[in-house]
Formats: sequence, C-alpha cells, structure tokens
Amino acid sequence: MTVPTVLFASGTGSNVGALLEACRTLPAAWHPALLVSDREDAPVLDLARAHELAAVVVPPGEDFEARLLEVLDDVDGEGRPALLVLAGYLRLVPAGVVDRFSGRILNVHPSLLPAFGGRGMYGRRIHEAVLARGVQVTGATVHLVDEHFDAGPILAQWPVPVHAGDTPETLAARVLATEHRLYPLVVDHVARALEQGAEPTPLPPDSSSRPTRSGLVFP
Ligand code: GRF
Repeated sequence: MTVPTVLFASGTGSNVGALLEACRTLPAAWHPALLVSDREDAPVLDLARAHELAAVVVPPGEDFEARLLEVLDDVDGEGRPALLVLAGYLRLVPAGVVDRFSGRILNVHPSLLPAFGGRGMYGRRIHEAVLARGVQVTGATVHLVDEHFDAGPILAQWPVPVHAGDTPETLAARVLATEHRLYPLVVDHVARALEQGAEPTPLPPDSSSRPTRSGLVFP
C-alpha cells in the first residue's frame, strides 16, 4: 500500500496537476488521499473534482490548528500517517501540525532558497526581486517544512537561468515548468523512504532527470 498523501494548495494548482498526473502514469510510492485548501474560491478545487479527489476547505481563523488536525486524522481510514505536500499553499502550517507530521511535510518554492524566501515572498514578488537584484541563476527548491516560512532542510534544488529581457511572468513560467518536473520526483523519493520507515533524504544528485548544462535547464 502506497503512502496516503494530502495535497495542500491555495491557488491554481498546476503543481497539484503535475503531481496527480505523475502519480497516474508512474508506479508512485504515494497516492493522493485528500486535497486541503484555505480558500473556497481556489481553482485547484475544480481540479480535485475533475480528478475525483476528495477536497476540504479549512479557512484560517479561530482553531485553525485544531480544525486542520481533525481533517488530517486518519486520512486513509487505516490509521497510517499521511505525507503532507504543500503546492502553492500560502499559509504558515501551525506548530501543532508540524509537530504531529514532523519530517513528513514538503513544500516547493520558486527560488533557490534561502534566497528570495520567507514571509511575503510568494508569487510574482519573488521573480520581481530576482530581476531587480540582477540574479543570473534562480531555480526551484523542495524542502521539509518547519514552523517558519520557507525554512527547513532542503531536499532538492534545480537551477533555472535568468534570460536577458525576462519579465516576472516569463521567468515565473520557466521556474514553474521546472517545479512540475522536480516536485513529483522528490515526493516519490520521500514516499519511498517513509514506506520503509526511514527518514526522508535529499534527492540524489545523480537522479537521471536532473538537468545538466547541456540539458533542459541550461540549453
Ligand atoms: C508555485 O510557484 C509554488 O512554488 C508557489 O506558488 C506557485 C503555485 O503555483 N509556492 P500552482 O498553484 O501550483 O500553479
């Protein structure tokens, strides 16, 4: 039985789409058990519906942590602890959830952390800041989640070049396409470790899909 996985998203959910697609086409070590959003109007809820994935909205407010913990209790009905995968989820995960799922919560971020991360660094702002600073290489990071924004041990990073003439939109699209390739690899890698009762480890650098200077990332 593969690892029950809860996807968390606040917006469009293109990373959720990439993960669901990967799970359908590969023999993945995880399966989607639930989608959690903080927003009633998040387009990702339509995506969940289209994939017949159960979804629940837990808006912020009083007892946020307790409500989340309740939703996350026994997601597969067999008492197995879930893997939590944040994909464009814009809330801080409450400390009680981090404690309960320690070492089992992943996040993807569209920069090479620790650069251009932290509170308020999301969406277009990240790519604006990258361009304003004259950064030449940005990228995507997958990391374990702790109680701070964009902190926690890094499990994988892939670089993405900044091109002359890039706008925040063109750069965002290039980074997002990289996230879509990287995140499914890392989620599967982590699920394989958890299945065997081991701690998650970084994605091996020799991963066959890793971009190289002659490959997709540095054409
Ligand atoms: C991604 O860039 C993700 O890294 C960030 O928010 C964006 C979400 O995009 N945290 P999507 O909702 O997966 O399309």
